[in-house]
Amino acid sequence: METKFYSLEEVAKNDGKGGNRTWIVVKDSVYDVTDYLQQEEEHPGGNELIIEWAGKECTRPFDDAGHSSEAKKEMKQYKIGELREEDRKQKQQKKSGDAAAQAKNKENRRSCCSYLTCGLCD
Ligand code: HEM
Repeated sequence: METKFYSLEEVAKNDGKGGNRTWIVVKDSVYDVTDYLQQEEEHPGGNELIIEWAGKECTRPFDDAGHSSEAKKEMKQYKIGELREEDRKQKQQKKSGDAAAQAKNKENRRSCCSYLTCGLCD
């Protein structure tokens, strides 16, 4: 099946309010937990807690809870897609930022034509 990609903006609209569905993002995956919240058996950490995070990225609190593999397995059925590349956590962006800075340094170095006498160039 083809993976669907969503923006954070789209996720934010599904905040569970006024009849909206309830979506959450955990580790770049988007989950529609509307049906999970309507189950007879409440979420062991409380439905309220999930509702608080509706429409948001909640990897941190999800991980902090130390969910079991059973819990993670159960969660899979609610996955509807993934966060689009541009909206993912900054890791890659930071890296590319560093690469850009490095490229700039290199350029500066190359632009010096008297590297033998210039104390700033290596
Ligand atoms: C579909 C999504 C989710 C499922 C299926 C799920 C399932 C579970 C299950 C089965 C437990 C019991 C302990 C375990 O087996 O690990 C649990 C506990 C817990 N969950 Fe979730 N969870 C979901 C989403 C979340 C989210 C988004 C948060 C936080 C923002 C959260 C916070 C917690 C907390 C704090 C506990 C611990 C409760 C305690 O220790 O008393 N859960 N969850």
